[in-house]
Amino acid sequence: MDYHAKTIILHTDSAVPDPAAIAQAAQVIRNGGLVAFPTETVYGLGADALNAAALDRIYAAKRRPASDPLIAHIAQAEQLAQLAAEVPYAAQRLAAAFWPGPLTLVLKRAPHVPANIATGMDTIAVRMPIHPVARALIEAAGTPIAAPSANTFTRPSATTAAHVLEDLYGRVDVIIDGGPAPLGVESTVIDLTGVHPVVLRPGGLVMEDLLRVLPDITAQQRFLAEGEATSSPGQLTKHYSPRARLMLYDGDADAVRAAISDTAQRYLANGRRVGVLAVEEDAQHYTRLGARIIALGARGDSPAIARVLFGAMRALDAQGVDIILAPLLGGDGLGEAIRDRLLRAAEGRVYTLGKHDA
Ligand code: TXA
Ligand code: MG
Repeated sequence: MDYHAKTIILHTDSAVPDPAAIAQAAQVIRNGGLVAFPTETVYGLGADALNAAALDRIYAAKRRPASDPLIAHIAQAEQLAQLAAEVPYAAQRLAAAFWPGPLTLVLKRAPHVPANIATGMDTIAVRMPIHPVARALIEAAGTPIAAPSANTFTRPSATTAAHVLEDLYGRVDVIIDGGPAPLGVESTVIDLTGVHPVVLRPGGLVMEDLLRVLPDITAQQRFLAEGEATSSPGQLTKHYSPRARLMLYDGDADAVRAAISDTAQRYLANGRRVGVLAVEEDAQHYTRLGARIIALGARGDSPAIARVLFGAMRALDAQGVDIILAPLLGGDGLGEAIRDRLLRAAEGRVYTLGKHDA
């Protein structure tokens, strides 16, 4: 066990949670404290979902505006009925098909659940994670655990305990270090309070799988202008940003490579520090530039890219780069979530280059 100012770090195996660590962390949750813990998507910053004062502590620790609602994490299906006023048929089907897993359902909130979990809205987002450490913690705490991603507001989500420490040192009581989060991107959020199910945030559960269970599901238009009304307040574009300015390039692979090389050279010539996020196939083209290069994974290997994406942005920030250049990646499956996180991190700065199909 390592001690920091006010933050205790407990280490555990990811597959077989250490009972003593879980018991200690669960006690902190029951006492209204904050515990950061690994899930299969990213690390969460947890508190008792039924304790309004504890929920306020989450917003304060994250430096998050209280306009951004939290997800309640459960360990058993019965806990859903405790949190939601009603569980529509579509929710039952999705839960049966994909829980435990990286899927969050937005439902009407039960009246006894503190309103500040959903910033006063009459809804609640619920997810049953599959990560053994998350499950053990929720069970031991004996209460649903509200948890946003364990980063400060606007920073990339934390996928390791070290990232959590970087952002929340001294502002969280306990961090359970259970190794890197296996998926690396957050859960898929689905709104089930309307007539048709709507994907509010693409994530770890991919659209292809969702469509098999709910053929009428649609994706919400994501990149709203600042100030436009939205049913998922957390989705305005200023989010997930590295400190450096991220610029994305979209188009044919060679055009993108050439544009990134040219731009990097221009900034480097002006004395700026440049970082490049590259697919493995491209990384070698950049080695002579003098920029910091991070290879994310092979082109099209979305699971590999998703795992390292947030960590790569943090690593470039840690190296003090002024600017980050990256291709706009995407595609099917997890590619959708990757594309979404890149666009948000870049706050919409995308340069489109000679596309054959454009
Ligand atoms: O994978 C995940 O979902 C991670 C781990 C820790 O479970 N959590 C996470 O939480 O990403 P957070 O707070 O960073 O993102 C929650 C998302 C936001 O986009 C938020 O707007 C949406 O869920 N959300 C939460 N409650 C909602 C509600 N009542 N109505 C609509 N959207 C909601
Ligand atoms: Mg987040």
